[in-house]
Amino acid sequence: MSTGVLDPETRTLDQPYPDTAKPPSSLRRFAPFLLPYKWFYIASIVVSLIATMTGLVIPLVMQRVIDGPITDGNFSAVWWPAAFVLLLGTIDALGIWVRRYLVSRPSSQFEISARATVFDKLQRLSVSAHESWESGQLLSRAIADLGSLRRFMAFIGPFIIINAVTLVVGIGVLLVQSWQLGLIMLVTSVPLVIACTKFETLYRVVARDAQDQAGDVTTTVEESIQGIRVLKAFGRSAHLGKQFLRQARTLRGTELKKVRYLAIIWAVIVGLQPITIGAILAVGTYSIVQGTMTVGTLVAAIAIVAFLLWPIESFGYLLAELNNARTAADRYWEIMDTPETVTDPDNPVELPERIRGRVQFDRVGFTFPDASSPLLTDVSFVIEPGETVALVGNTGSGKTALTNLVPRLFDATEGSITIDGIDVASMRLADLRSIVTVAFEDPVLFSASARENIALGSPDATDAEIAEALDIAHATDFVEQLPWGLATRIGEQGMSLSGGQRQRLALARAVLGKPRVLVLDDPLSALDVDTEAKVQKELRRVLAHSTTVLVAHRPSTAALADRVLYLENGRIVEQGTHEGLLATSPRYREVMGSIHG
Ligand SMILES: Nc1ncnc2c1ncn2[C@@H]1O[C@H](COP(=O)(O)OP(=O)(O)O)[C@@H](O)[C@H]1O
Ligand SMILES: [Mg+2]
Repeated sequence: MSTGVLDPETRTLDQPYPDTAKPPSSLRRFAPFLLPYKWFYIASIVVSLIATMTGLVIPLVMQRVIDGPITDGNFSAVWWPAAFVLLLGTIDALGIWVRRYLVSRPSSQFEISARATVFDKLQRLSVSAHESWESGQLLSRAIADLGSLRRFMAFIGPFIIINAVTLVVGIGVLLVQSWQLGLIMLVTSVPLVIACTKFETLYRVVARDAQDQAGDVTTTVEESIQGIRVLKAFGRSAHLGKQFLRQARTLRGTELKKVRYLAIIWAVIVGLQPITIGAILAVGTYSIVQGTMTVGTLVAAIAIVAFLLWPIESFGYLLAELNNARTAADRYWEIMDTPETVTDPDNPVELPERIRGRVQFDRVGFTFPDASSPLLTDVSFVIEPGETVALVGNTGSGKTALTNLVPRLFDATEGSITIDGIDVASMRLADLRSIVTVAFEDPVLFSASARENIALGSPDATDAEIAEALDIAHATDFVEQLPWGLATRIGEQGMSLSGGQRQRLALARAVLGKPRVLVLDDPLSALDVDTEAKVQKELRRVLAHSTTVLVAHRPSTAALADRVLYLENGRIVEQGTHEGLLATSPRYREVMGSIHG
C-alpha cells in the first residue's frame, strides 16, 4: 500500500521508506514497551513453568505408587505419595493465580502505551499521510490490532515458551524412563513439527488478507452511514449494498480458508495422539512381558503422553495467534514508520515577545506528494500586520492549498513563508499554531459540548472570551437557544447543527484568543449574504490587529478586504483592491460575475 507521503523533495526525508523490506521481527520491536515490567514478565513465565512442571511430576509419583505399595500390597505406604500429589496440585493452582496477577499489569500497560503512541503518531503525521489511509483501516489497526498484540504479550508469547519447555522436558523424562517409549513420542512429534511449520507460512498470508479485508468492510459500513443522506438522495444505497455484499463475501471466503487450514492442522494434531498411545501400549506390554519394564513405568509413560497432549494441541492455536500478532505488529510499525514530513525543526527559533503578524510568501511553490505537476507556482506577496487580504480564484486554482501552507498543514515545496521575517518551518509547530488559527469551509465538530468545541485551541479561555468569540461569529443567539446552551453536546453523537451554525462555531473557535494571523478558508459560505456581511464587519472591527487571509467567493466578501489576490492555476495573476480590479481586470470581473452573492 502506498502511504502517499514519499516525496523526495521534502526536508526531512531523503530516503524512500522501504515498503517491502520488513525488519526481521516486528514483534521484537515492542520490547521497549515491556522493559519497565521485565521482572514481572520473567517472574510470570518462571511461575507458570513451575506450575506446569508439577503436571509432569504426578505421573512419576504414580509410577512409584504402582511399582511400590500396589505391587507390594502395602497400603500404609501410599500416604506420603498422596500428600505429595496434593501439594503439587496446590502449587499448580497457586501458579495459575500468581501468573495472571503478574502478567496483567505489563500487558494492559503495554496496550495503553502502544495505543497512546500510535494516537500521538497519528496526530503528528501530515495531512497527506492521513488522506492516503482510509479511516476504517486506521480504526481497525489502532483498536483491534493492539488488542491482539496485548493477548500475545499476556499469554500467547509466554505459553509458546512454556509449552516448548514442557514438551522438551516431557519427552526427556520419557527417554530417561524408557528410551523406546521416548523414541516413539519423538518420532510422532516430527510430522507434527513439519505440519506446524508449513501451516505457519500458509496461515500467515491468509491472516493478513482477512485483516485487510475486514478493514475494507469497516470502511464501506462507515462511509455508508456517514453518507446515508447523499446515498439515498442519489439512489445509490443499493450500489453500496452490493459493494458491501461483495466485500463481505470475499472476507467470508478468506475466513473459510483460514478455517480449512485450521481444520487440517487440528486433524493432524489430534490424529497423532491415538497412534502414539497405541504404539506405546504395544511396545510397553511387550517389554513388561519380557520383564524389562515395570507396569508403573508404562502407566507413567501413558500419563505423560496424555499430559503432553495439551501443549501439543495448543501449539496450532498458539502459532495461529502468533501470526495474528505478527500481522498486527507489521501494521502497527507500518504506521509508526511512516515518516513525519511536517515536524518540529531541530533547532526551533525562539519567538520574540510580541508578534506583529507580517506574513510574507516568497516565491512559494507547492506540489502534492503524489501529483506530477505543481499546484502553486511562484507565489509571492506580503500581508502587513492587521491587513485583511482576500484570495479569489476559480475552484481548483489552489486557494485551499495556499491557506494550508501558513499553519504548515502542508509544507511548501519551494520558496519560503515567513511571519515577521521568521520562516514558519523554523518555528516550533506549537508556537506556529498559537500564532495562526484556521477555519475551514467544512468544519469538523467533535462529540463534545459546544464550549469544548469552541475552546479546542485555547482550553483556558474565560467565559468572557468565549462570549466575545461567539459575538464575533454571530453565534450567540443560536447557542443560547440550544437546550443546554454552551453545555449542549454537539457533533456526531450530539445535537446536529445546520451547516451555517457549524461554520459559525468553527469561526468562533478560530477567533478565540485573538490570533495574530487568522486564516479563513471560505468559512462563511453557508451563511446568507446578510449575516455574512455582519460577521465580516464584526471581524474587521474586533480583529483590527489580526492579519487575515480570507478565501472569498462573493463580491461582498471580497469588497470587505483591504486587498484582493486573484489566483489562476496556482499563480497570482492580479492584485489590487476589489473596486480597482473590477475596473481594470476583465477576468476578475468575469469570476466575480459568475459567482453570485
Ligand atoms: N491530496 C492531494 N493530492 C493531489 N492533488 C490534490 C490533493 N488535494 C487536492 N488536490 C488538487 O488540488 C486542487 C485543488 O486545490 P485547492 O487548493 O483545493 O483549490 P481551491 O481551494 O482553489 O478550490 C485540485 O485540482 C485537486 O485535484
Ligand atoms: Mg477550496
